[in-house]
Amino acid sequence: MQKPVFAANWKMHNGPQETRAYLQRFLAAYPEDPSRTVIFFPPAVSLAIAGFALRERPEILVGVQNVYWEEKGAFTGETSAPMARDAGAKVALVGHSERRQYFGDTDEVTARKCAAACKAGLIPMLCVGERLDERERNATQAVVLRQFKTGVSRLEPSQIANMVIAYEPVWAIGTGRTARPEDATAVHTAIRRSLREMIGPKAAEVPILYGGSVNAENAAELLAAPEIDGLLVGGASLDPETWVRIVRA
Ligand code: 13P
Repeated sequence: MQKPVFAANWKMHNGPQETRAYLQRFLAAYPEDPSRTVIFFPPAVSLAIAGFALRERPEILVGVQNVYWEEKGAFTGETSAPMARDAGAKVALVGHSERRQYFGDTDEVTARKCAAACKAGLIPMLCVGERLDERERNATQAVVLRQFKTGVSRLEPSQIANMVIAYEPVWAIGTGRTARPEDATAVHTAIRRSLREMIGPKAAEVPILYGGSVNAENAAELLAAPEIDGLLVGGASLDPETWVRIVRA
């Protein structure tokens, strides 16, 4: 088992000034801890300042929340993977449910973005997760495995072995409703099985994170569940002291 991964997805919060102030407080409260991996996903406009604020803490990674799959060109408003990398990103969130829900990112678009991230040397963190209606008609595993298999369909096995997966049930995101640890474990186990079919024993090394209403109270219990290798946190990561408590879970 590798170190647990704690990823903070700030979504559309924290511009450059707020990012600087946040990271000052976080670093003051969080001395280096080699037993865990911490990743921040600030908005794209705050990537460079986050990288600068963390320059003396190379063990803490910065990631971009979304990329476009072309490297450059007439795509107003988009950020390419090489540009995100240039700004300091090491990881790219891909296929977040908010991208799927509000911006029309399909499984195929997500696959292109995963491939673009890998090509630029970013680690893709592929998000998958079912909606409430899908869970209620017992389609959870079918939906998640479809999202996963299509999402990685443009990757080489060696790239799959170096990615991160985040299972975030849509009904648990920002709702205060967390998946029961055993339900999350069941989905993570299905993803792991699918990974094993693709890349064999290396599947054990791919972190599978859980996300959806994680907070300082439930983090430890979720992390203790089998097959949960880390946490992807939205709302509860926005306060630096709360986030430190979660990372120490
Ligand atoms: P919340 O932690 O706010 O539920 O958000 C989860 C999420 O979407 C992280 O990517």
